[in-house]
Amino acid sequence: MPLTTGMPPSSSLGRPLDLLAECHRRIERCLHVLAVYAARPADAELGDHDRDVLALALRYFRESVPAHLADEEESLFPRMRHATHPLAIAAMHRLAALESDHAAARPRHELVDLLGQRWLERGHLEADDHHLFCRMVAALAEMYSQHIALEDGEVFPLAVRILSRGELRAIGEEMSRRRGRHPASSIPSRPVPGGRFQIRPRELQPA
Ligand SMILES: [Fe+2]
Ligand SMILES: [Fe+2]
Repeated sequence: MPLTTGMPPSSSLGRPLDLLAECHRRIERCLHVLAVYAARPADAELGDHDRDVLALALRYFRESVPAHLADEEESLFPRMRHATHPLAIAAMHRLAALESDHAAARPRHELVDLLGQRWLERGHLEADDHHLFCRMVAALAEMYSQHIALEDGEVFPLAVRILSRGELRAIGEEMSRRRGRHPASSIPSRPVPGGRFQIRPRELQPA
């Protein structure tokens, strides 16, 4: 069932951290999709259904994750840095580490997208490309596992404590505008072959 995605509803503008956490669940699911494909033999041919599912996961990382990283780097982290609460000052090094993770992830995402698109175009990957695809997906999975645990477990709860309602609403409004500039289009629902999860339309809404 196609779904036109876009900005989060206005009712969610006051809870931007919930939206960011929901995006983490989508990142985890799409990483799982990529891991399922990486586990296949290098010379495995992609069928039509496989191509659709792989294309969806690649598209999520290409179109929606950049907005998520910008939400944190441009909207959330700067406000936390300006907070005068003692807990915020103690968390400064964590924010720097998270930004370093983002910087390291970007070229890996670009490489995964390049190789994934090549896989889609040719229907298979050469052994060297497949090996590189596997390495990059594994590196992203490892990085996001620790990164998301830190954000969900420490940084987002801290933000709720030290930021005002007005600041949280401003973050939500910036997130909404960001998605207005980069709206996603219609995304169909597809099961993930060989995987525990299914990609459902709501899970691939930009966040
Ligand atoms: Fe992050
Ligand atoms: Fe995040």
